[in-house]
Amino acid sequence: MDHATLRAEFPLLDTCLYLNSNSTGAIPRGVETVLNRYWQTLTAWRDEVWDGWLDQTRAYTHALGRFIGAPPGSIVTDLNLSTLLARVATCLDFDDRRDKVITSDLEFPTVPLLWRGFTRYGAVLDVVRLTNHDVSALVDAIDERTRCVCLSHGAYATGAVLDLAPVIARAHEVGAYVIVDAYQTVGAVPIDVTALGVDFLLGGAHKWMCGAATAFLYVRPDLLPELRPAATGWLAGEDPTSFGPATTLASDARRLAGGTPLPLGPMISRVGLDLLTLVGIEEIRRHSLACTGRILERADELGLEVLTPRDPDRRGGVVSLRFPGAERVKKALAARGVVCSWRGALRVAPHIYNTLGEVDAFMDALEIERKPATT
Ligand SMILES: Cc1ncc(COP(=O)(O)O)c(C=O)c1O
Repeated sequence: MDHATLRAEFPLLDTCLYLNSNSTGAIPRGVETVLNRYWQTLTAWRDEVWDGWLDQTRAYTHALGRFIGAPPGSIVTDLNLSTLLARVATCLDFDDRRDKVITSDLEFPTVPLLWRGFTRYGAVLDVVRLTNHDVSALVDAIDERTRCVCLSHGAYATGAVLDLAPVIARAHEVGAYVIVDAYQTVGAVPIDVTALGVDFLLGGAHKWMCGAATAFLYVRPDLLPELRPAATGWLAGEDPTSFGPATTLASDARRLAGGTPLPLGPMISRVGLDLLTLVGIEEIRRHSLACTGRILERADELGLEVLTPRDPDRRGGVVSLRFPGAERVKKALAARGVVCSWRGALRVAPHIYNTLGEVDAFMDALEIERKPATT
């Protein structure tokens, strides 16, 4: 598929200059058909619809598995990442031999909030400060008391890609789990969960995956038999649609499912996943690095502070820029149809559907809007 054809799949691009994919990715036009079909299904409702919907959800997890190197049966979906992370947390025991939960100061607010909540069940939280996105202080904090490490793959505020390998190696040396929040990398940066050897990896559809209303959890298959979530629901049972006495959990990752799902999320999100798969994650990454490289060049010309690592191996899909008045500039840009996000710094996030020309147009607009703040 050539680039112009790919762009034509995203109607949002006709309405504005959109460099906001780390916040919300553009939705492909094929989703309209899915929504129409969903409406028709509701208007001719029969309970048998659920069989097809659950099949489609399973097919989505298989396609997602192929995208991130996960075998069939190792992925479960739910409405958002926070729900799935909480469910993982309820599988863990915190006792006087193992009570430590290690995380970093770069996490999305869900992570500290959730683990702080689990201190009531005996967890002892250690939030390690990562200077310059370097994980060595976190690796040093891992010891025999560590139950789990919960860390981002891509930091949400700066886009930095954290080096997971030494974290996973040290955690496994002491028998601790590693739980990775990959929401800011999946769809922008290649991920192979099997090669990485990670225990749990979470992500979601509505940013770099060009989907909506669904998140996912990968579980390392050999861990599944030992996981018994306390926060659970009927869909986690071995044979949920039999509605017999539920005593056994599913043997695959569905044992981390909850109650009645919203299958529309996976159905919508399949369209974007198939497009990204067609383009290929290596091509997406090549294009992303070219675009973020151009943002870095232009930011240097303007003398803006760059919070994102420059090393391509440590750079995700977003460049974060800090300068006086950045929040005002974000709003002024939005008013002229130039869309990015602000989280303490201006986050500029091109995706595979953007062009280098759009990146330049964005930086031109930024240069104009920044001026009043500095004069
Ligand atoms: C790193 C990261 N994790 C998680 C989320 C979202 O979590 P949830 O699906 O629970 O809203 C986001 C952004 O929305 C994020 O940037």
